[in-house]
Amino acid sequence: MARMNNKVALVVGGAKGIGLAIAERLSAEGSKVVITSRRSDDAEKAAEGIGNGAVGIAADASSPEDMLDVVEQVRKAHGRIDALVLNAGLSEPSQIAEITPEHFDRHFDVNVRGMVFGFQAALPAMTDGGSVVLVGSIAGNAGYPGYGTYCATKAAVRSYARTWTAELASKGIRVNVVAPGPTDTDMMASVAQDTRAAIVAPIPMGRMARPSEVAAAVLFLLSDDASYITGAELCVDGGLRQV
Ligand SMILES: NC(=O)c1ccc[n+]([C@@H]2O[C@H](COP(=O)([O-])OP(=O)(O)OC[C@H]3O[C@@H](n4cnc5c(N)ncnc54)[C@H](OP(=O)(O)O)[C@@H]3O)[C@@H](O)[C@H]2O)c1
Repeated sequence: MARMNNKVALVVGGAKGIGLAIAERLSAEGSKVVITSRRSDDAEKAAEGIGNGAVGIAADASSPEDMLDVVEQVRKAHGRIDALVLNAGLSEPSQIAEITPEHFDRHFDVNVRGMVFGFQAALPAMTDGGSVVLVGSIAGNAGYPGYGTYCATKAAVRSYARTWTAELASKGIRVNVVAPGPTDTDMMASVAQDTRAAIVAPIPMGRMARPSEVAAAVLFLLSDDASYITGAELCVDGGLRQV
């Protein structure tokens, strides 16, 4: 039986990579899916590919105004949000000696500020018993040379999830984090071959994650199968941070 039958799911940053895999899986499990992307053609093309009446909306995940507009459109189309996935994120290298205010702001604007105000915008439309997944990273619990700002944003995501869990439990809203390890998406595509080999070497399972494997974890946490799980972080990392 479909695990998300007739649930309304909003995937912020759902037109490619991990977000697209999540949207595809939620749709296959019976959700009415709405995705966002900064570019309207990407949003529409991805929604068409997802099928089952999925809708794509052009919105910048780092803009509170855009997110309020997205939620308004979801309300008009479906009346509510049952499942919220905040996935948009970026990662660019910069060692401490080279970090610029622009580098810092770009990361925090999308990875943290976008998540906070995206959640705030969606909350009034969320049903009691709704479920939220924040896409974090194992980088939030580690230090990776050259990626200090990214790591810090993902630590902030983990922290917010703890507080939001406590704040929203009385409404029956569950908040969890899925923390992928290295995953084969555009974010990894720019990485040189020898660096990829170095990234994969310590992973016990010997390879990067497929986006669909991250999506399976997100589906589990959103679904009623996880009805007593909130405030948790589920690592999908082939064992990398577990051994
Ligand atoms: N790939 C990995 O190894 C890995 C590991 C751990 C965690 N993650 C996390 O997983 C999530 C998805 O990453 P991915 O690997 O699927 O990367 P991706 O293919 O590059 O997708 C990035 C997503 O974030 C959105 N985004 C990027 N920059 C943005 C900006 N400046 N403003 C607004 N939205 C922006 C994109 O939306 P548009 O459609 O608008 O471009 C897209 O939906 C991120 O939160 C990332 O930190 C990835």
